[in-house]
Amino acid sequence: MKALLPITPEVPIEPPLALLAELTHRCPLQCPYCANPLEMERAATELNTATWLRVLDEAAVLGVLQVHFSGGEPTARKDLLELVRHAAACGLYSNLITSGVMLDAASLAVLAGAGLDHVQLSFQDSDAVQADRIGGYRNGHARKLVVARLIREAGLPLTANFVVHRQNLDRLPEMLALGQEIGASRIEIAHVQYYGWALVNRAPLMPSRVQLEQANAAVAQARTDLRGRITIDYVVPDYYAARPKACMGGWARRIINITPAGLALPCHAAETLPGFHFPSVRTTSLGAIWRDDPGFARFRGTAWMPEPCRSCDQREVDWGGCRCQAFAMTGNAAATDPACAMSPDHFMMADAVAASDAVAAADGPAPDLVYRRIRTAALVR
Ligand code: SF4
Ligand code: FES
Repeated sequence: MKALLPITPEVPIEPPLALLAELTHRCPLQCPYCANPLEMERAATELNTATWLRVLDEAAVLGVLQVHFSGGEPTARKDLLELVRHAAACGLYSNLITSGVMLDAASLAVLAGAGLDHVQLSFQDSDAVQADRIGGYRNGHARKLVVARLIREAGLPLTANFVVHRQNLDRLPEMLALGQEIGASRIEIAHVQYYGWALVNRAPLMPSRVQLEQANAAVAQARTDLRGRITIDYVVPDYYAARPKACMGGWARRIINITPAGLALPCHAAETLPGFHFPSVRTTSLGAIWRDDPGFARFRGTAWMPEPCRSCDQREVDWGGCRCQAFAMTGNAAATDPACAMSPDHFMMADAVAASDAVAAADGPAPDLVYRRIRTAALVR
């Protein structure tokens, strides 16, 4: 049972369940739906090892249970092994979120030996040519298949993560089959979220309604076929939903996100919101940030909500949806998430879907993807 941190007697704040440690923005892949911010951190601005070790200590004291080592590509950090070992020593369950292309048998063996608990391996497609095109990394898909086997041989549980969109959604049955073939205990089918760089590529990536209906049916069938053996995580994308998702489990309720440079955020996209000055773990402890920071408090709970959220019976289910999406679409971070059918801005979602359906109906080529470049070089040893 986790302890509550009393801010005031009336407003107890539960500790975060998970720490999302974005170790670096460096990544060998170039996915055009990357959720990293438009201005990515360079290696010179990344937190040093000592600070990350302190952050892990503070997370454990705060009551965090899980740490997700993420990026960019976390294996680009030379100190990943040390961080994993320290997380284990602190009693934190550790998950490595990786593209896998920089891993090999030796690095996986030492990570497993250091106490790594789980690996989430991303795939861009089930088709190698298309996967390498989307990821912008030659022979990446073939490498991932090898790494998936090595992860299992290292004794680590595996989640296969597929990010889906217009250009691969028709192959969802093949992706589900691939997840089974490689021995994943969990398959995550994640629709692209359209903020950051992904918003630049919304037109070429947004699936059509027909594609989405077929995908929903494929997931439903797979869940029936695989019940009790493989868990399938899947959420209908916001643009086609009538209600928003509880983004991050609610603002500053479940997860604390640390950027490569050390900013503490309630979600990975919070830096896109104007008027916030999020604190740095370089100067402020994780506990003080979680309890006292006004940016974390801004959208926590329900008191900030406008109508129709304020009087809605779903307000403690979805916590008003996604603040970053509300801002990206309406210019107002406190607006009702346009994903909600009760939002006065819901037409924006409908308009984007209609535009996507029109492209599909015309049966022409999708608009070109826009790529960006950032270099990396390192390998866990
Ligand atoms: Fe959620 Fe607000 Fe929509 Fe209710 S009105 S379902 S709380 S977004
Ligand atoms: Fe920031 Fe959803 S991504 S609240």
